[in-house]
Amino acid sequence: MKYGKTTITIKDVARAAGVSIATVSRILNGSAVVSGELAARVAAAVDELEYRPNAVARALKERKSRSIGLIIPDIENPFFPALVRGVEDAARQHGYAVILCNSDGKPAEEERYIQFLFSKQVDGILFIGGADSEGNLELLSALPTPVVTLDRRSAAAKLSAVVCDNYQGAMLAVKHLIGLGRRQIAFIGGPVQSSSAIDRRRGFFDTHSQQRLPVNERLLFVGNYTFDSGYKAAIALIDGQQSFDAIFAANDMMAIGAIEALTERGLKIPDDVAVVGYDDIRMAGWYKPALTTVRQPVYDMGSAAVDILLKQITGAETSVCEQKFGPELIVRKSSGAKEG
Ligand code: RIB
Repeated sequence: MKYGKTTITIKDVARAAGVSIATVSRILNGSAVVSGELAARVAAAVDELEYRPNAVARALKERKSRSIGLIIPDIENPFFPALVRGVEDAARQHGYAVILCNSDGKPAEEERYIQFLFSKQVDGILFIGGADSEGNLELLSALPTPVVTLDRRSAAAKLSAVVCDNYQGAMLAVKHLIGLGRRQIAFIGGPVQSSSAIDRRRGFFDTHSQQRLPVNERLLFVGNYTFDSGYKAAIALIDGQQSFDAIFAANDMMAIGAIEALTERGLKIPDDVAVVGYDDIRMAGWYKPALTTVRQPVYDMGSAAVDILLKQITGAETSVCEQKFGPELIVRKSSGAKEG
């Protein structure tokens, strides 16, 4: 880690970056909302001159807000409140408050909340993007505010991430169904641009090829992680005249929506159709039939993301890292196997 020269002042940085001292100060203490280019220009000048503000002066001036922002894409999906619980408990243990923002997965809402959190001078941001968040991930990586992405990682932006191994999780689900003798497995995937959906889709396909089983393209559907999209996909599947004996849905809300449609149309679960979801939300165990699913350690993921973020805020950690948690298959009545 560079320790820099204490003789270089903020004035030198401003001159080198071609901006005012006030702009440099606002960018460095996170109180200005600027373009990625301007932030990058100031950051380059800081690096070039090896500017390191006097630690004491900085500590006095630095106004830590002792708060972190958390942006989630769907407050109504029970997966996210469970994750928020892990974030909140960990933040509270370290004396930080959490500002929770629900973007509904809309890029414009995501950006509005990013600007809001920046203007409130939160000390760090935890971000779960919607299906089309690459632009906002670029914006986040240009900010001087520490950022950790959760659950979904970014292909382009260099940001730390805490994720579940979704590829492995999908393989567990499909191997389980194949092990039960199901051979015509329908797949209801998540939003095509979401990294969690991409990895689960890949796991579905790769398990089939490893088991030398063809994938029937007519049994493939795309949902958006909601109950309605799972319901509609199952109705299209039933009306599609293709025979099928199992459904793997890329999250529990779509799996429960599919079960609703199958039951309405008189199909028996698991006798006619075995169903497996993903997440293990709290209601998965209560549902009738209780849902076989892939459990994500969502509480621990939330807690781990806070730990990484706080290390970035205090400067204890400056490198980009990814922490990947393992999934676990939870067998229940909806797939008919003996419950584990
Ligand atoms: O249920 C919401 C889904 O979106 C979860 O599977 C979670 O992994 C997120 O990607």
